[in-house]
Amino acid sequence: LRAAQIEFWTSLLRGEVREPVPPVTVDLGCGLGRFSGLLRDLFGGSVIGLDRSARMLEAARTDPTLTGARWLQASAEAVPLASGSTGLVFSYLVLHHLRDRPTALRECARILAPAAILFILNSTVESLDSYVWVPFFPFARAIDLARLPTRVGVLTMGAAAGLSVERHRTVRNPVSPGLRAYAARIASRTLSTLQLVPDDEFARGSAEFTRYCEREDRGQPVESEIDLFVFRRPTT
Ligand SMILES: C[S@@+](CC[C@H](N)C(=O)[O-])C[C@H]1O[C@@H](n2cnc3c(N)ncnc32)[C@H](O)[C@@H]1O
Repeated sequence: LRAAQIEFWTSLLRGEVREPVPPVTVDLGCGLGRFSGLLRDLFGGSVIGLDRSARMLEAARTDPTLTGARWLQASAEAVPLASGSTGLVFSYLVLHHLRDRPTALRECARILAPAAILFILNSTVESLDSYVWVPFFPFARAIDLARLPTRVGVLTMGAAAGLSVERHRTVRNPVSPGLRAYAARIASRTLSTLQLVPDDEFARGSAEFTRYCEREDRGQPVESEIDLFVFRRPTT
């Protein structure tokens, strides 16, 4: 995470979690551990980064800034942690990758201690068009519309998993320091949706998007919307 993102997420999470968090925080679908260090620094105790990808976890494990975190290769649909063992579960841009979302949410509910919080941050069908790159890649937009959850879908799934819904809100997420930097990120094709589009659409969209960014860059940060869902495990 860039400094501006660390500042943004620190302030947001501090505002959301006012009570002390019991010892273990799980970064579910942690990837390279982008958020694991932040969670460790914010909530203390120990952080477990869980991901199904051995490659991602290996990179996280060897990242010198992530000392103190533990890494667990597992599926979100079958979490090898004891029931009630977790003080907070955080999951950023993972939900739409899961094959069995209801089971994963039930697993979150199971591992949370009574009154502990689950944060889900994810794009939704409703927030997709806030991404400035989306109109340049119609095929990618169609892929995401088919795989992203709806807002009501996430809320319903959480409730069905036995969690109480604390809050849903849309957050303006600082995704890049500027349009030119964002064009370079899009051109690197690291976004999973862009890896799924045909090469010719990617090449055309990326060239058009880069031209757009060069023309429109005013040195302002680029933001997009992300949905924040806060669930809590009931005490009884
Ligand atoms: C878009 S990345 C987000 C990574 C990280 N949360 C971040 O924001 O940098 C999605 C991650 O979810 C992981 N993932 C996908 N399906 C999973 C599953 N069923 N169980 C655990 N992890 C999963 C992927 O391996 C990948 O690291």
